Amino acid sequence: MKLNIAVLAGDGIGPEIMKQGVAVMDAIAAKYNHTFTYNEAICGAHAIDEVGDPFPDDTFKACMEADAVLFAAVGDPRFDNNPTAKVRPEQGLLAMRKKLGLFANVRPVATFDCLLHKSPLKDELLRGADFVVIRELTGGMYFGEKYQDNDKAYDTDIYTRPEIERILKVAFEYAMKRNKHLTVVDKANVLASSRLWRQIAKEMEPQYPEVTTDYMFIDNAAMRVLTEPTFFDVIVTENTFGDILTDETSCITGSMGLQPSSSLGEHTPLFEPVHGSWPQAAGQNLANPLAQILSAAMLLEHFGLTEEGQTIRKAVDASLDANVRTPEIQVEGGAHYGTEEVGAWIVDWIAKH
Ligand code: IPM
Ligand code: MN
Repeated sequence: MKLNIAVLAGDGIGPEIMKQGVAVMDAIAAKYNHTFTYNEAICGAHAIDEVGDPFPDDTFKACMEADAVLFAAVGDPRFDNNPTAKVRPEQGLLAMRKKLGLFANVRPVATFDCLLHKSPLKDELLRGADFVVIRELTGGMYFGEKYQDNDKAYDTDIYTRPEIERILKVAFEYAMKRNKHLTVVDKANVLASSRLWRQIAKEMEPQYPEVTTDYMFIDNAAMRVLTEPTFFDVIVTENTFGDILTDETSCITGSMGLQPSSSLGEHTPLFEPVHGSWPQAAGQNLANPLAQILSAAMLLEHFGLTEEGQTIRKAVDASLDANVRTPEIQVEGGAHYGTEEVGAWIVDWIAKH
């Protein structure tokens, strides 16, 4: 297969983990006779530095022309610590999601047996937890009307019927492919926007008679994902709730460094780690490349390259089993492996198996 991939490495640890993600894609291309071509484009803080825009038109064009976008992370403390900054790296991320119409963010939550001890939760609660959170990504408070003066500020949590229907359709279809259990997470006891979500979900339920659909308030869901993570199969929720819930669910996996995601919608699909740009670690060969590498696996699987995706997943499992791990998940007394070494080990494993 020929795939043209827009590569957006972004800021902080982005370029280091991206290098490993691309190396793994190349190892797959060589093994299975595919042709992957890469088109690098700038975004985030360094795009602000270079051209004054965190998601420049040239980058948008590169994304639109590609079959898929492989994205790393954006963000820089220079902007976080300056509340008056007019342009911020995160605006580039939001512009990218909006312009590419990436309304469905799929964030799988899985456990790795050998990392259960890294989670703050008890082993017996976690074992077997395996679900996906489908987060609506281009609506709600993130994009609704905003206002701010010295005495008053608001954000508007607005959703329209077509926006709700299309994300619920993705979620029901995901549930059909998995264990046919969908949990719609909302705050329908308080928020009008949530009541419309719930109404539309109930209207759609009869189209998916095989799916068991339940409804859960976000506050309750925030507790249930930690007390009974095995209850869930597919969760669907609005933008802000999904943002918060997926940082929380990263505790189930044991490290943010292990969580990939895909964002799907109207234009080019995008694949990125859930974690951020970890600027403090930039350039130190410390960051875990696995979320980036697993995002590459999701990219390949999206195009039907199931075996190729599985090969990457097996290589990742093998690296963990061999204790070839970056410091934040390394076992006590284990050898030191950096971003580069973990990536190289995985590339080598793929070539040999
Ligand atoms: C995420 C991030 C972003 C979000 C930030 C960086 C704008 O936290 O992808 O979860 O809030 O969506
Ligand atoms: Mn987030």
